Amino acid sequence: MGTIIVWLLPFILSTWMPGSSGRQFNQDSPHQLGQQEVLFKREAYLEARRNKREAAARWLGEDYDSSMVFLPADEPEDVPSGGADASDLPTCLLCVCLTGSVYCEEVDPEMRAVPTLPKETAYLYARYNKIKKITNKDFADIVTLKRIDLTGNLISEIEDGAFSKLSLLEELSLSENRLVKLPMLPSKLTVFKANHNLLKTKGVKANAFKKMDKLVTLYLGDNMLQAVPVIPENVRIVHLQNNNITDVSSDTFCKSNNTYYVRPSLVEVRMDGNPVLLSKYPNVFTCLRSLPIGNYR
Ligand SMILES: *[C@@H]1O[C@H](CO)[C@@H](O)[C@H](O)[C@H]1NC(C)=O
Ligand SMILES: *[C@@H]1O[C@H](CO)[C@@H](O)[C@H](O)[C@H]1NC(C)=O
Repeated sequence: MGTIIVWLLPFILSTWMPGSSGRQFNQDSPHQLGQQEVLFKREAYLEARRNKREAAARWLGEDYDSSMVFLPADEPEDVPSGGADASDLPTCLLCVCLTGSVYCEEVDPEMRAVPTLPKETAYLYARYNKIKKITNKDFADIVTLKRIDLTGNLISEIEDGAFSKLSLLEELSLSENRLVKLPMLPSKLTVFKANHNLLKTKGVKANAFKKMDKLVTLYLGDNMLQAVPVIPENVRIVHLQNNNITDVSSDTFCKSNNTYYVRPSLVEVRMDGNPVLLSKYPNVFTCLRSLPIGNYR
């Protein structure tokens, strides 16, 4: 029996999670959620949605139909919003709060600002809402935060100190928003994602990431950048595809004054979808184990 499950697992996972390569998936019990890599866990996500709908339905006095549980995640919400605003509801009714994690995904009624978080929140998932702005107050009292996922909102403004005091923050996703510039970032980040925004070179300082010696994953693809910021030493994956980068220099990835320098940790660099012709810069990638993905002719 055990072997059959193990044997079927890849199949089950691939049917549940199409296009999910690189995402975390593990089989830990829900009790451990606070400590685990739960960002993309399918069951946790579905459970969060189910609990949220139940809570919202109870709040609104609706009969809750448990058959909704098995609808695909992107079915439209059935709970009527009645024009209410999310800020009218207590956070843990609107969202799902589980040992240190707060799940507020596609909240209905609309969520237009970061909700008040319970003390000691470590993981916030607030994807696909209508949040427009992040203020210095939003996370000021929640220094326990380790991960914040704000993918798919309408964020065009982040006050500069909004994240800077979060010294435990390891993962921050601002993907699929409307940012033109980045705020100050905390130095212990291991994962930073800001792909699919409107980032301009002016808004991403050359040294924005330089001091982040724990940074491993950096997603800046699908923006309007014209230059590559300094990529810190321990980074493994850099995505810069679909920007407006026209050239690179010997110091972009390697060190112009040190021909013996090698950089084995940097294993994936995406530069496709940029005007830069990489074959024009043969000496710029000599420290890398593999060439960047991109336009060579
Ligand atoms: C791309 O960069 C060039 C300068 O290198 C600039 O003239 C052009 O307007 C930029 N295009 C966009 C869409 O930002
Ligand atoms: C190379 O230049 C950097 C600054 O760009 C400097 O910190 C480093 O010491 C230099 N290394 C050598 C070998 O000259």
